[in-house]
Amino acid sequence: MRLKVITSNPGKVREYERELSQFGIEMEHLRHPYDEVQTSDLEEVVNKGMDAIISEGIRDFIVDDSGLFVDALKGFPGVWSAYAQKTIGNPGILKLMDGVEDRGAEFRCCIGCDIAGKRIVVTGVCRGVITDSERGTDGFGFDPICSPDGERTFAEIPMDEKNAVSHRGNAVRLLIEALKDEGLI
Ligand code: IMP
Repeated sequence: MRLKVITSNPGKVREYERELSQFGIEMEHLRHPYDEVQTSDLEEVVNKGMDAIISEGIRDFIVDDSGLFVDALKGFPGVWSAYAQKTIGNPGILKLMDGVEDRGAEFRCCIGCDIAGKRIVVTGVCRGVITDSERGTDGFGFDPICSPDGERTFAEIPMDEKNAVSHRGNAVRLLIEALKDEGLI
């Protein structure tokens, strides 16, 4: 079985490969931009994206979308995380959270997989807190201001440890379970 990973980020292809190759699934990187609908719902973005890709005749693929949802900001930046990261960045999020007591937040990752004519959509979640300042040099994006345990930030945690608790790690584990339930692996 071969699945196309439709993304502009080659790092994601390697991540899926590491998790799914043990089940005999090979990954192929496909750069194929598709329109993302304007909605605050991650699953809707993924489902509509899958509809658009399938309507172009592409099958057997994976797409995903992820974001940081901050409780006190009513879920912002959420589906606009990539844009928020590019514009206001981590200092902007910390500024919005200045003096805010409720630091709760969660990363969510929604994976959509079209495989053997079936559609599987799963969402992995990782709860944590927004820190008061940026800490750590590993990782990317919001990692330096997010902590899963209230102590170290994701940017201070080794990659393997992050994968064991992260939204993306949890989403991939849910995908594997769903593929097993469907008898596809
Ligand atoms: P994407 O949908 O995976 O491209 O993620 C959208 C945006 O969410 C990225 O540009 C990052 O800013 C943010 N993001 C997603 N996953 C993570 C993560 O694991 N750590 C930090 N930031 C993340």
